[in-house]
Amino acid sequence: MNLPIRPRRNRQSPALRGLVRETRLHPEQFIYPLFLSGSSADEPIASMPGCQRWSLDGLVSEATAAFAEGIRSVVLFPRIDDTLKTPRAEEAINPDGLIPTAIRTLKHALPDLAVITDIALDPYNSDGHDGLVAPNGTILNDETVAILCNQALTHARAGADVVSPSDMMDGRVGAIRSALDSHGFTSTAILSYTAKYASACYGPFRGALDSAPRAGDKKTYQMDPANAREALREAALDEAEGADILMVKPAGPYLDIIHALRAATPLPIAAYQVSGEYLMIRSAAAAGWLDEKKMILESLTGIHRAGADMILTYFARQAARWLLND
Ligand code: PBG
Repeated sequence: MNLPIRPRRNRQSPALRGLVRETRLHPEQFIYPLFLSGSSADEPIASMPGCQRWSLDGLVSEATAAFAEGIRSVVLFPRIDDTLKTPRAEEAINPDGLIPTAIRTLKHALPDLAVITDIALDPYNSDGHDGLVAPNGTILNDETVAILCNQALTHARAGADVVSPSDMMDGRVGAIRSALDSHGFTSTAILSYTAKYASACYGPFRGALDSAPRAGDKKTYQMDPANAREALREAALDEAEGADILMVKPAGPYLDIIHALRAATPLPIAAYQVSGEYLMIRSAAAAGWLDEKKMILESLTGIHRAGADMILTYFARQAARWLLND
């Protein structure tokens, strides 16, 4: 064939492929989600094989090992004892609660590790919703935002570097920003779950925290998976309200949303490869149906290529080890 243009020329060797590679993963781009058991034991998580709920000691050793492998950021999720769950989620603002204690412990052991905390009421709320539930079942917006501001302050006082509202209430980013600023926490950053979809992919996570809604679903606050323009609207609001980083969640089925937000804002974009995405790869690999390493690295590369600057992933340690060794 008379072909002056042959794209395969750039693919003919590892060296040339390395030169033309457009996207590279690095462990610094990973945020490692860690679950807390609230007891002195590390516990395997039945709904997420391969993941654990950590005791405080286990948390420090896991984070130390991850740090040694190049991971610089973690996000914490607590399993709260049933006896501490209430309709007004008071435990969410307990300065000596599990999360504030874990923040202090981690920042003491690993001062250079960025500690990110989740801002939402679902682990603390006896109704299992991210917001307060009215007697008629409505999820109350403004009353919830007031508590979220206190929760963010509680975490900032304990030393959190970044607070991450995952509740999808309206106006919470601006309210949290002004609560933090008026108490002197001008350096505490906000990573907003900007476009968080009402997804089937969160089931295993709710099993890990025992945080599934006791009644109803989350469709009055989390976004409809059918919508894309609405994500741009949420992004514009979060940016105007002072968010430092915008997140899309889940990641793999929402690459178009990551891409659209990347084009619409100069802010950094995060994406959360959630528990269901983790299990789809884990279970297929455990059955011998897929190559786990190739699947994990391809899934993370796709999320990064779509426009995510950083990725929350349960595969953070495995991926970091492969990236550093290859
Ligand atoms: C709740 C929260 C959820 C996740 C992170 N924060 C679950 C939900 O919204 O029901 C899901 C993460 C995952 O599935 O890995 N505020």
